Amino acid sequence: MDQIQQQADSPPGYPWAYRRLVTLHDGRRVFIRPILPSDAPELAEAIKTADADTLRRRFLGGPPPVTPELLAHLTTIDYIRRFALVAIDPASQRGVAIARYEPVGGNVAEVAIAVSPDWRHAGLASALLLLLAKAAAERDIHTFTGSYLAGNRAVAALIEDADGPDGQLIEQGITEFSVALDRDPEVVGHGDQTGAGGAQRPGNAPGHA
Ligand SMILES: CC(C)(COP(=O)(O)OP(=O)(O)OC[C@H]1O[C@@H](n2cnc3c(N)ncnc32)[C@H](O)[C@@H]1OP(=O)(O)O)[C@@H](O)C(=O)NCCC(=O)NCCS
Repeated sequence: MDQIQQQADSPPGYPWAYRRLVTLHDGRRVFIRPILPSDAPELAEAIKTADADTLRRRFLGGPPPVTPELLAHLTTIDYIRRFALVAIDPASQRGVAIARYEPVGGNVAEVAIAVSPDWRHAGLASALLLLLAKAAAERDIHTFTGSYLAGNRAVAALIEDADGPDGQLIEQGITEFSVALDRDPEVVGHGDQTGAGGAQRPGNAPGHA
């Protein structure tokens, strides 16, 4: 989606400040921006065509039925209590990753993420989660929680990158964790930003899912 189209599609209150051109560890670039309602068809396609392992890890089982209601719920958000970022390949203009938080209660939000297999191991999840943590901290959310299949080493590594979990519970093959967010999100840069390895990582801010 080009810039003009994006402006035309953006809902009131769209948080333009959370757009970044990020250079990943492997030199590829991605454009990260808050999700738009017009992302719904591509998100539907992404869920329908994702491989079984990605779906199992992302949804801890099967994905929910992809209905218009679900897509509206996932793409029409208030950017305050609920926030989501997408990563776009500038060459193909296709979405390659998505990260979101949803309210759990109090100042706590649950975080979830998926990166397309071709775009993994390059710091994209770390970059997305760093920016998501900044958005959350600026909206008075102080803790991210999440769940992942106990054998999901990528997520475990992401949490370790965030200085480890503040709490963790493993039950029936699912690990539930919580991570306190840094109260000073200003350390996350603006504009062009390198991937996880190059971006400043706030102490204890999540690079996690
Ligand atoms: C989990 C996931 C989002 C990671 O995305 P990614 O872009 O590859 O992650 P990054 O490149 O930012 O890597 C972050 C860290 O995880 C590590 N990591 C990534 N994949 C790994 C793997 N398969 N095994 C072990 N470590 C791994 C990286 O080495 C890196 O650690 P480092 O910073 O210490 O080097 C991606 O694998 C994915 O989409 N999985 C399916 C969905 C899912 O599991 N979602 C989480 C539950 S909601």
